[in-house]
Amino acid sequence: MIDRDSINYFTEDGSEGAVNARMGEDINPRLAEVMASLVKHLHAFAKDIDLKQTEWDYAIDFLTRTGHMCDENRQEFILLSDTLGFSMLVDAINHRRPSGATENTVLGPFHVADAPRYAMGQNISLDGVGESCFFSGRVIDQNGNPIEGATIDVWSDNANGYYDVQQPDIQPRFNNRGIFTTGPDGHYSFRGIRPVSYPIPHDGPVGEMLTALGRHPNRPAHMHFMVTAPGYEKIITHTFVDDDEWLTSDAVFGVKASLIAAVEQGKEGDTVWKSSFDFVMTDAVA
Ligand code: BEZ
Ligand code: FE
Repeated sequence: MIDRDSINYFTEDGSEGAVNARMGEDINPRLAEVMASLVKHLHAFAKDIDLKQTEWDYAIDFLTRTGHMCDENRQEFILLSDTLGFSMLVDAINHRRPSGATENTVLGPFHVADAPRYAMGQNISLDGVGESCFFSGRVIDQNGNPIEGATIDVWSDNANGYYDVQQPDIQPRFNNRGIFTTGPDGHYSFRGIRPVSYPIPHDGPVGEMLTALGRHPNRPAHMHFMVTAPGYEKIITHTFVDDDEWLTSDAVFGVKASLIAAVEQGKEGDTVWKSSFDFVMTDAVA
């Protein structure tokens, strides 16, 4: 016969302790740390807002619909993380770089691993739609020395605000994507289109959340860059067009002052825009 008084009953006040006390002793210490903190903050959150049953039922339904929205082309949970600023927080925690080094920003869901490799200066706009823009700069270390053999993987939306993977029946595969490798001078250059702002996918639960919060889904115009070089820390970032109306309210909080780049008209009569940006890499952590 169990002694009723010896049972560690679940109570509102002691809820966190009751759950965390169930953890075994011989478990992964990092898992134990992560789960203990998660339970602590999750229970504190419910108590802080005096969570109503109907609200929790709504949240479960919201998360269920978020999961159902996910497939190989659509990752609604990443959008949820992005719009809650969580992706940027995790990125910031994991990429604390010295001043002067190029800052990271959110990867986003539209990177494709196997884009075509091009020679420097070549055109990545396969459909020719949009205003032409010449991107150039250098990949250097923190002392300003050029980095040879750096890989620069770039991608952007088209002039209508969609990535090729969002419009497989409309855009050519790999439209506005390409991979370039620097030579001894560390220079890179390619021709793309002047980036345009676009809304993140907002026809699902995340869009519903943004609307309910009085928020818009727009991202300021940007070009994505992933820069890698042996011995250096990978940079995942964008450059942002300096005159964009959404710079101050990016739906996913990706804008950093150091990543805003001028996009300027070339010489008179030249219709190609120009944008220049240097990437400063830090040594890889051993
Ligand atoms: C992007 O810049 O491609 C992006 C980032 C976060 C969410 C959606 C899109
Ligand atoms: Fe983007």
